[in-house]
Amino acid sequence: MATVLHKPPPSATLERIQAIVGPKGWTTDPAILAPHLLEERGIYRGHTALLVRPASTAEVAAVVRICAETRTPVVPQGGNTGLMGGATPFEHGGEILLCLSRLNRLRAIDPLNYTMTAEAGCVLAGLQQAAEEADRLFPLSLGAEGTCQIGGNLATNAGGVQVLRYGMARDLVLGLEVVLPDGNVLEGLRGLRKDNTGYDLKQLFLGAEGTLGIVTAAVLKLFPRPRETETAFVSVRDPGAAIKLLAQVRGGTGDAVTAFELMSRTCLDMVLRHIPGTADPLAGRHDWYVLLDVASGDTGGGLREALERSLVAAMEAGLVLDAALAASAQQSKAMWRIRDSITEAQKSEGGSIKHDVSVPVSSVADFIAEASAAVASTIPGIRPVTFGHVGDGNIHFNLSQPADEPHTGAPLAAYLARLEEINRIVHDIVARMQGSISAEHGIGRRKFDELLRYKSPVEIALMRTLKRTLDPHNIMNPGKVVAP
Ligand code: FAD
Ligand code: MLT
Ligand code: ZN
Repeated sequence: MATVLHKPPPSATLERIQAIVGPKGWTTDPAILAPHLLEERGIYRGHTALLVRPASTAEVAAVVRICAETRTPVVPQGGNTGLMGGATPFEHGGEILLCLSRLNRLRAIDPLNYTMTAEAGCVLAGLQQAAEEADRLFPLSLGAEGTCQIGGNLATNAGGVQVLRYGMARDLVLGLEVVLPDGNVLEGLRGLRKDNTGYDLKQLFLGAEGTLGIVTAAVLKLFPRPRETETAFVSVRDPGAAIKLLAQVRGGTGDAVTAFELMSRTCLDMVLRHIPGTADPLAGRHDWYVLLDVASGDTGGGLREALERSLVAAMEAGLVLDAALAASAQQSKAMWRIRDSITEAQKSEGGSIKHDVSVPVSSVADFIAEASAAVASTIPGIRPVTFGHVGDGNIHFNLSQPADEPHTGAPLAAYLARLEEINRIVHDIVARMQGSISAEHGIGRRKFDELLRYKSPVEIALMRTLKRTLDPHNIMNPGKVVAP
């Protein structure tokens, strides 16, 4: 196997790439490069000799062909909101950074086929808007939707808050266009719901985090737009009650739940402390909350009443302690702002050791209880910031530094130095519960070693075989997910 460069590519290679994309399609300006080289949480700061921004699939293919020929490694980047360091080049500076932001055309929208064909650089919120204008719904929805790009969403197989009803990003794809590591283009932009012609090749690239090819466009599934949506902010007895509540509301509303998010009081307190304009939707203080949406395509009404009936029944059963139903779209938005701001608010609370895990929905409460006790006995005062998509069994178990120690300098460094130890405790519990150490954020660079520890040797061997087969020169985002 050829060795990839760990030093800046020769200027002759860079000049060939620059000639393909033209003056608007590349930069070496440190000020423009800076935000592209810093990972979302500031954990990694990479280097590159060239940021290239192709404007078409043909340009991406031509750039990658040169990279393959010259063994120049390439890091694809979308909105750079990924949380695993996958979009950040390594510090050695030997990789070029390929941003998809100029591939941002909505190529087609077909309301009768319930599909749209979008280029990789389209910002997610823009696609949601375009679908709405065509009286359709594109349901992928996450806190970073104003910045992340559909190519990044597909490359990470993003989850978000509506997986419960509509599935993960990979479930929303009918067709895919991908530039392969040799520069050939896999032209798979078919809008078919049925296509059993051999292996489903597009699945290889969804969730591959740019290690097998560069997604340049996709045919995405659309859905009927809900006509009625109701939002409730509910305090629950404990996480176990939340899981029972989910089953009750699903049953009581004709399975109308589209989002069901758990958060602890610690999360709410952090948001109220750091995010201006937020307010507690409930009067009293409680330990656990659920934010939920129910939606229906029916215009006949009745959804709110069904939700109210379910909540009253859950209150009588002692599961729900208090509840506020949004009286307007604006109130619903304010409730969702609380949920969507947790990650941002937590940044102001010192060091954080994050876990994005999943367990079977029925094991969520046990996981939270066991993991919280285990980390508290290891680091007294550690603050679990526990929230997430519990309807999918996906818990963000983010551990903030104890409140009573300085959040800078040596105490911060000492806390973060315990990452490995804390990961082991949390991920071992997850493994015992037959869960996953990455429910939705992926592997990237951050969990590269964790994957080797928790995935079976047969799975790792198969992943390596795929990587070697598709990317024999190891130029496609090397050092992320799995090594060949
Ligand atoms: P980037 O960060 O640019 O890239 C991510 C990975 O994909 C990298 O490995 C990169 O090399 C690769 N990549 C990017 N574009 C392409 C392409 N066109 N072809 C091939 N590879 C490519 N994630 C969730 O799943 N659910 C959430 O609820 C969620 N909430 C978030 C909330 C906040 C506030 C933030 C900051 C992040 C959140 N994320 C969440 C993580 C992140 O937003 C998602 O992983 C998102 O899908 C990344 O998209 P991006 O365009 O920013 O990709
Ligand atoms: C979210 O659901 O808000 C993110 O995926 C969680 C995170 O930032 O850890
Ligand atoms: Zn999430």
